[in-house]
Amino acid sequence: MKVNALLKPIKLGKYELPNRTFMAPLTRCRADNEAKAATELMAEYYAQRASAGLIISEGSPVSPQAIGCINVPCIYSKKQIDGWKLVSEAVHKNNGRIFCQLWHPGRISHPDFLDGDIPVAPSAINPNDSVFTYEGFKETVTPRALTTAEIHNITLDFAKAAENAIKAGFDGVEIHAANGYLFHQFFTNCSNTRADEYGGSHENKARFFFETLSAIGSAIGFERVGVRLNPSFHSFFGIVIDRETIPTFEYVAKRMNGYSNLAYVHFTEPYMSVDSIPYAVKEIAKHFSTIYQGTMLINSGFRSESGNRVIIEGYADAVSFGKPYVSNPDLVERIARNAEWTLWDESTFYTTGPEGYTDYSKLTD
Ligand SMILES: Cc1cc2nc3c(=O)[nH]c(=O)nc-3n(C[C@H](O)[C@H](O)[C@H](O)COP(=O)(O)O)c2cc1C
Repeated sequence: MKVNALLKPIKLGKYELPNRTFMAPLTRCRADNEAKAATELMAEYYAQRASAGLIISEGSPVSPQAIGCINVPCIYSKKQIDGWKLVSEAVHKNNGRIFCQLWHPGRISHPDFLDGDIPVAPSAINPNDSVFTYEGFKETVTPRALTTAEIHNITLDFAKAAENAIKAGFDGVEIHAANGYLFHQFFTNCSNTRADEYGGSHENKARFFFETLSAIGSAIGFERVGVRLNPSFHSFFGIVIDRETIPTFEYVAKRMNGYSNLAYVHFTEPYMSVDSIPYAVKEIAKHFSTIYQGTMLINSGFRSESGNRVIIEGYADAVSFGKPYVSNPDLVERIARNAEWTLWDESTFYTTGPEGYTDYSKLTD
């Protein structure tokens, strides 16, 4: 019989998980209420997907300044903690586990979300992209460079949000340090030209991230903390890979070996072909598994066969699936039975209501 590595149990931090098929974070914009709190509908959606070894929630803004998209469920107020409680309880009732992805988009926001304030970033460099506002897509603006005191305050926001997540019943948190958002903006020269201790060397560019990782670990315990990185992310949100980019990520990955209790690091294969991009790494799992010694998750573009392969080859411990989880709430069962996967409908990724959200069927329906 063929070994189905995706279905083998795994220990992750303090948890024994029944399989290695994880749900990747997916922003779905269903928190369409004034409190920006998770809802009953969201609880139903996540509970439907509880057979995943681990669910990682959609990005949850850690403060009002960390909002960069419409209808995103946040994690800084009492009402928002109560909203997420609905979700964690529903997932646990179905014997699942769920981490909360903590998010600050930095310059990938808009004054529309910030009461007219300018978005913040390491440096005042416009990503020249667009963000999805309540009035449709709008062009990004030139952000304001953070002061040192503000950087420290954002670290505190993350630590507080991590505590809130635990209060809300989450099993842990994932720090969103990927995809061109605030931590990623600190990691790369194209967005970080600071001349202080937060810019320049690899150590400086990673300082804010490690200060935040330490603060969160002290607040809730490192065994409940995961980290998301996307080293070969390129050409989206104004991010451009240069000769220092990958070495900075290698520095970050290597240094995380010192956090031996960390639950996991979640790497992402390139979102697009980087064959012609100088300095990019084409095979992220293969490359970074030689550097990071702890539990490693890999994402992007995987299917049953490729997911099993990457684990069997020893390049990752678990695989997270994004779009497949939009349309296959019972992905684990489909992998077990070698059943067809339902295709996702992109037109309902960011809409409101149950359509294209909780109405995808399971094999048993
Ligand atoms: C609708 C949608 C929303 C997403 N939201 C998030 C998010 O909130 N946080 C995050 O880290 N990645 C987010 N991603 C990226 C996914 O986690 C994942 O990296 C991407 O879909 C590639 O994996 P896949 O091929 O398995 O879909 C999102 C992707 C999609 C399609």
